[in-house]
Amino acid sequence: MIGVLNTWSELNPCHTHFRDRAEEVKRGVWQAGGFPVELPAMSLSEPFQKPTTMLYRNMLAMEAEELLRSHPVDGAVLMGGCDKTTPGLVMGATSMGLPFVFLPAGPMLPGRWGAEVLGSGSDAWKYWAQKRAGRITEQDWNEIENGIARSPGHCMTMGTASTMTAAAEALGLTLPGASSVPAAFSGHARMAVATGRRIVDMVWQDLRPAEVLTAAAFRNAVTVVMALGGSTNAVIHLVAMAGRAGVDLPLEAFDEIARRTPVLANIRPSGEYLMADFHDAGGLRALMAQLADLLDLDARTVGGGTLGENIAGAAVHDADIIRPRDRALSPEGALAVLRGSLAPDGCVIKTTAASPELLQHTGRAVVFDDYDNLAARIDADDLDVDETCVLVLRGAGPLGGPGMPEWGQLPIPKKLLQRGVTDMVRISDARMSGTSYGTCVLHVAPESAAGGPLALVRDGDLITLDVPARRLDLLVPDEELAQRRAAWQPPAPPAGRGYGALFAQHVTQANEGCDFDFLAGSGAPEPAIH
Ligand code: FES
Repeated sequence: MIGVLNTWSELNPCHTHFRDRAEEVKRGVWQAGGFPVELPAMSLSEPFQKPTTMLYRNMLAMEAEELLRSHPVDGAVLMGGCDKTTPGLVMGATSMGLPFVFLPAGPMLPGRWGAEVLGSGSDAWKYWAQKRAGRITEQDWNEIENGIARSPGHCMTMGTASTMTAAAEALGLTLPGASSVPAAFSGHARMAVATGRRIVDMVWQDLRPAEVLTAAAFRNAVTVVMALGGSTNAVIHLVAMAGRAGVDLPLEAFDEIARRTPVLANIRPSGEYLMADFHDAGGLRALMAQLADLLDLDARTVGGGTLGENIAGAAVHDADIIRPRDRALSPEGALAVLRGSLAPDGCVIKTTAASPELLQHTGRAVVFDDYDNLAARIDADDLDVDETCVLVLRGAGPLGGPGMPEWGQLPIPKKLLQRGVTDMVRISDARMSGTSYGTCVLHVAPESAAGGPLALVRDGDLITLDVPARRLDLLVPDEELAQRRAAWQPPAPPAGRGYGALFAQHVTQANEGCDFDFLAGSGAPEPAIH
């Protein structure tokens, strides 16, 4: 019996093809002699769920785990792709411990506006800023909206969806080459059938996630995320996924791996192209073949072979899209982990999406207490700000958001936008969409709502960002900070009952993966029947 966990929903445009794909998975299961049963699971729809799908990632993880625990199934195919669906499904199925294969939704086809190629998210942010600055019209904006998402599939830039499905493949959880196949390609349907066939064999072989999700597999995934110029969200999700597998994955591992991994994928927002181009250039197998000496090729995968066997013979068909090592987009990986007096437990910055001249910068803080405060003041003519300032948003972390929304790409104040300013140092305890760009320091831990130093920053304080030294510091004397701390009041909990209350009581901080404290590790795969 194979459970097919389907995150289809009418309100998730990234998964519109999942009804068809579920049938194709089932066909594969039948072909191999299994019996498939489709089990609907919560669809975390990035564009439509408020305040953020991140609030519900752990809920999907609990649902996936208990669906597999409580139903009479021997293995599972997990169907996901839109940002949080990949980590949510994998976290839950890992804790349950049954054999599973992950089926990535596949990216959308490229978007288009007139002669312009549009990439999900990245071009929305770009043209939204142009609209605020008065450079494009409402009609232009409507045309962009109509042209940016033209097929089924998840965002086709190297946003969180493409990053996490690639991470799933690098972890060994998909069939070889599965993660970059565009959703609308016929190859995607064939991959779904092959996935259905494979899970039946996997059950007979009793190949369980614990044999695949080793420390080496997680280091492979981090290496691949860095070489892709992947989303900062991968840091949180991979830490949480590793926690389910019993693997310790500290933030420092990301920084260490980033320093030795070049960015080879020329994909927006760090590069130029989109996921369909990446697929045609050879896809993830070809990228991993370029990195072979940085990967543990003996890692097992759900396909039955090792990672090394999966990438053997993979060729690059366009060396501008998947760069050779000597023409890397960046000699180091996409992310840096910083610590300092403003982030004692760490924070991250996507260096490849930042302005090089701002990576070492000291500026005066302009502080926004929460998102509503930011929205009300950011475009005010009397906002005391210039391009050397550091914009600070707090109240946007796991507890504060709640759910750690993607508010970390704070908008440039309108009066600066109109003067042509396109980037500033921005700091928050929020996350940022993987499709975003700018010199944005994210995931500051502990967050302000938990009493982290971010809660104590005031307008006019000096803040120093020093990415080469991996530091983020608040230049305020300790005695002054102690006085501010004594006067600080924690915010009221956002919810008094229900899931929101459960979330607030048990969510961990960003450096720990934002999982619930009681969900780490695995449960008994075979519950007693009474
Ligand atoms: Fe689903 Fe971006 S909206 S992946």
